[in-house]
Amino acid sequence: MNNTSSSDLSTLKAVVACALPFLIILVFYVIFEPENARTSFIEMLQGLSFRRATRWTRFTRHRSAFGPFSLPKAITSYDQYLETSLENITAMRNSYSRIIWSHKHVGYELGYPEKLKQAEHVVKLNAEVTRGIVDLARSELSEHPHCNTPYVQTDLGRVQESLKHFVRDWSEEGAQERGRIFEPILNVLKDVPVEQRGGMKVLVPGSGLGRLAWEISELGFNTTAIEFSYFMTLGMRFLCSPQKTLNVNQHTIYPYANWFSHTRNNEDLFRGIPFPDAVPRFGRNLHLIEGDFLEYGHADEYDFVVSLFFIDTSLNIISTLQHIHKLLKPAGTWINLGPLLWTSGGRAQLELSLDEVLRLAGMVGFRIEGEEVQDHNGDNHARLDPVSIPSDNKKRRTVECEYTANRLAMMRWLYQAEFWVGTKLKQ
Ligand SMILES: C[S@@+](CC[C@H](N)C(=O)[O-])C[C@H]1O[C@@H](n2cnc3c(N)ncnc32)[C@H](O)[C@@H]1O
Repeated sequence: MNNTSSSDLSTLKAVVACALPFLIILVFYVIFEPENARTSFIEMLQGLSFRRATRWTRFTRHRSAFGPFSLPKAITSYDQYLETSLENITAMRNSYSRIIWSHKHVGYELGYPEKLKQAEHVVKLNAEVTRGIVDLARSELSEHPHCNTPYVQTDLGRVQESLKHFVRDWSEEGAQERGRIFEPILNVLKDVPVEQRGGMKVLVPGSGLGRLAWEISELGFNTTAIEFSYFMTLGMRFLCSPQKTLNVNQHTIYPYANWFSHTRNNEDLFRGIPFPDAVPRFGRNLHLIEGDFLEYGHADEYDFVVSLFFIDTSLNIISTLQHIHKLLKPAGTWINLGPLLWTSGGRAQLELSLDEVLRLAGMVGFRIEGEEVQDHNGDNHARLDPVSIPSDNKKRRTVECEYTANRLAMMRWLYQAEFWVGTKLKQ
């Protein structure tokens, strides 16, 4: 009897000893790094069960299965948009209700409770769009093994960000913001004679809601948009769907209502933005790949790669530039416009300055139009090499621009983005 209980005790001790480090790590993560750690822990568990349950492509398993931009996360987040937004407004109402009675009276005189009601009202209107996105995703992607898998933790922030992208990409309100950044890019492409464009392939990595890719396809190029965030691609599907989007300005969103800061008045805060200002369709000239650019494509396949506000999202900029170089045909053209807003906190493996990015481009095998470049042997190619004299459209320059800005806000964030054109020099 004694022998049995002492062996039970040692087994128990051994189990506790093995489990203890895991328990300590778990408690530490959950208590001290609440949001990120909890999310990534849950995502890790979901990822593990998915790996056991299915065979899926390397890309899907690695990035997309249950990651932050995955289909289940995006669908669940859009699906729960109304509930999570209303929870936020309830938290604001609770906060207001805790002030002393006389202040509450002042708030009432200011119309603050009405303002919260209005916020609820417009969130319900936004939910008509998010519901449409979910319905379409569930019907078009019903074959996807995780189309109906609920996600544990939704991401309201990314849904709100996507709503702002409808303004940037597909509204009259966004025309000015788009104009500044699209024009330099489209002007280079317009230099190609119209009759040659149909035989040329253009790739737009990190295509967001797809307006730039659509504009390029409208010029007559065979254009592929590639984007790994389902928060974006479900939005693009919604726009391109003949079931969901039939007319110009058919839908309206209220994208600024979730953030009361920097507003001059409530009309600005709750204003509706109709979209789309043009009705796009997938077709012979416009294709969407829902996947990772770094794992996509064949060598020497594209005439142009167009990166807009994209290269700085790379965790490894060397891989990104090498991949752009690989996908281009010999003497193919890379058009880039964007800032250098690296993912911070050590997540990006390199965070380079503009000078360094341009030097890297030379090392990878690009000649930046109008620039002195150093190749991988360390040899300089002079700025005035006749081949590298750019047409005006190809001149490297700084473009002051915004990104999903609220035109009427009391705060504006201005980028001094850099535009350049690179030519693939070597294999
Ligand atoms: C800053 S946003 C820019 C979106 C769009 N180009 C624009 O200017 O509106 C960068 C986009 O690139 C996407 N992205 C980042 N890395 C990617 C990759 N490796 N493959 C595909 N998409 C990627 C992100 O999901 C995001 O939508």
